[in-house]
Amino acid sequence: MALDDAALDQLFREARTQNKWTDEKVTDDEIRALYNLLKWGPTSANASPARFVFLRSQSSKERLLPALSSGNRDKTMAAPVVCIIAHDPKFHEQMPKLFPHVPNAKDWFTSSEKLAQETAFRNGTLQGAYLILAARALGLDAGPMSGFDNEKVDAEFFSYRGWKSNFIVNIGHGDPSGVFPRLPRLTFEEACDLY
Ligand SMILES: Cc1cc2nc3c(=O)[nH]c(=O)nc-3n(C[C@H](O)[C@H](O)[C@H](O)COP(=O)(O)O)c2cc1C
Repeated sequence: MALDDAALDQLFREARTQNKWTDEKVTDDEIRALYNLLKWGPTSANASPARFVFLRSQSSKERLLPALSSGNRDKTMAAPVVCIIAHDPKFHEQMPKLFPHVPNAKDWFTSSEKLAQETAFRNGTLQGAYLILAARALGLDAGPMSGFDNEKVDAEFFSYRGWKSNFIVNIGHGDPSGVFPRLPRLTFEEACDLY
């Protein structure tokens, strides 16, 4: 059954990338609800390689500052929650739990570094997109951004466990005054083939 128009508007047509935030807080329960929704999005072999680091204290957000491009600093510091979307290059260690009916599934990845890297990046990125849509579904707003130095973020947050940052999503309740004019999208004819 298709969702109704109000739901489609909330998820896609009216949802906007946010640059300013109201004072409304995001609770820890909402952060947990967000993960517990997005985790159901599909990944190849259920590998679930994404890792999510939620920063909600000012001091933890400030650890990001040296890595952020100048245009992304103020809105990130002002966001109630900042989520680093990362992936674990050793995600396959969880395969016995996540794909238990194939006991050797882990070997697919330990035997091919290329497959492991592709799987981690592709599915970690997908899971970041699931987070954006899950946030919208729960009545939160998102502001994704990639304008930062990944190596600096990895050194600051992940040196001891080897995770790799992909992109960042600011989360909160958007202040519409910070939204840019809506940009056009490609038409079906421009973006799609239908055979
Ligand atoms: C992965 C990703 C990275 C982005 N990086 C940045 C960024 O570094 N700085 C920024 O201002 N906006 C960034 N954006 C925001 C996009 O420009 C914005 O989502 C797009 O123009 C669509 O805007 P709309 O959702 O309001 O229609 C990023 C978006 C995504 C999904």
